[in-house]
Parts: sequence; C-alpha cells; structure tokens
Amino acid sequence: KINLGVLASGRGSNLQSIMDACGAGQIPARVAVVISDNSSAFALERARRAGINAEYINPKAFSGKGNYERKIVEVLQQNNVELVCLAGYMRLVGKALLAAFNERVINIHPALLPAFPGLHAQEQAWHYGVKFSGCTVHFVDDGMDTGPIILQAVVPVHASDTTDTLAERILEQEHKIYPEAVRLFCEGKLEIQGRKVYLKE
Ligand code: GAR
Repeated sequence: KINLGVLASGRGSNLQSIMDACGAGQIPARVAVVISDNSSAFALERARRAGINAEYINPKAFSGKGNYERKIVEVLQQNNVELVCLAGYMRLVGKALLAAFNERVINIHPALLPAFPGLHAQEQAWHYGVKFSGCTVHFVDDGMDTGPIILQAVVPVHASDTTDTLAERILEQEHKIYPEAVRLFCEGKLEIQGRKVYLKE
C-alpha cells in the first residue's frame, strides 16, 4: 500500500472521500498523515476520529515559507509518504515541498482549469456567467493551479444557481474524481509527458 499525506486547511470533505475510498479498498493506499496550517480545521478532526496521524503545523512559527515547508517535508518523510494530496490546502506550494516530492504532489481545484485559477473559483465562474464549470485534479508545479491535468469533471451552471448551489454541484464531482485520480497514481497508471498526463492501460 502507498502512504498518502494529505494537506488540508478546512472542512476536509475531499480528505474524507479519499479516506473512504482507501477504507473501501478502492485505492491501494492509506492516509498516513493529515497536516493542516489551521489548528481548527475540521480535516484534523476527521483524521483523529479515523485514528490517522493529524498534525497542525503553524506557518507563523517559522521564518519564511522555506523553513515552514521543510518542517512539512520532515513530517511527510517520517510517515513514509509517497504521494502528497492537497485537499482544500489554501496556500501556494513552494520550492522546498516540490523539490522533495517531485511529480508527487497533486491538487483538486473547483473549476475547469485553466479557467478560474486561485481562490473562490466557483464564485469566479458564477460571476463570469459560464454555462459549464467543474473541477480539475492536477499535478502541482510552481505556478498557481498550472500543473499537468489528470482528470476533470464538468457540471452545468443553472440560471437559478447561487455560488453555493454551484459549489455544491461541483463538490459532488470532486468527491468522485479525486479518489479516482489517487487510485490511478497509486496503481502506476499515470505518465507525465510535458503538459500531458497519459493514462496507461
Ligand atoms: C474544495 O472545493 C476544493 O476544491 C477547494 O476548496 C474546497 C475544500 O473543501 N480548493 C481550492 O479552492 C484550492 N485553491 P474540503 O475541505 O471540504 O475538501
């Protein structure tokens, strides 16, 4: 089994979908550690309830992003993590983490990248007036939501939607494609060639 490290800043529903898929035997992996930059993240609580190592790492306790990320890397390595999953982790990943986990950091974003990168993507899409949006699982590179795309799912935007109802419809798809992307990685089925991610049979 592959050891996963999940970084989450908030509610942790994507973390939950990954834990559930591991528990159900759908992914040959286990969540070895959950790390948060937010002491009150419900994600930490979900991990503790499931008996998974849960660590709050306070970014303010470190001078600079490099030192903060080296601490994260230390905790990930102590837990023998092979794949890092960002799940509602609200910080830009820097060089220290990417260097230690080259092509082994993935993220879920609540829009069809390259549209609406950054924060509040569902709100951005709703304000823009697009008729379809969705979510994207991608490898993380040093840009903001710019890495090679693994999977996407599309959802319609209805005239009656609010940003909340749209976000909810997108989240439902996130909970499907994130565990699926993790599964593909863990089964060795993903091959990155430049910007493209190919699915091996
Ligand atoms: C999810 O919608 C995720 O796609 C988004 O935050 C939410 C976290 O929910 N991520 C980003 O916006 C990344 N910039 P969760 O904590 O319930 O998984």
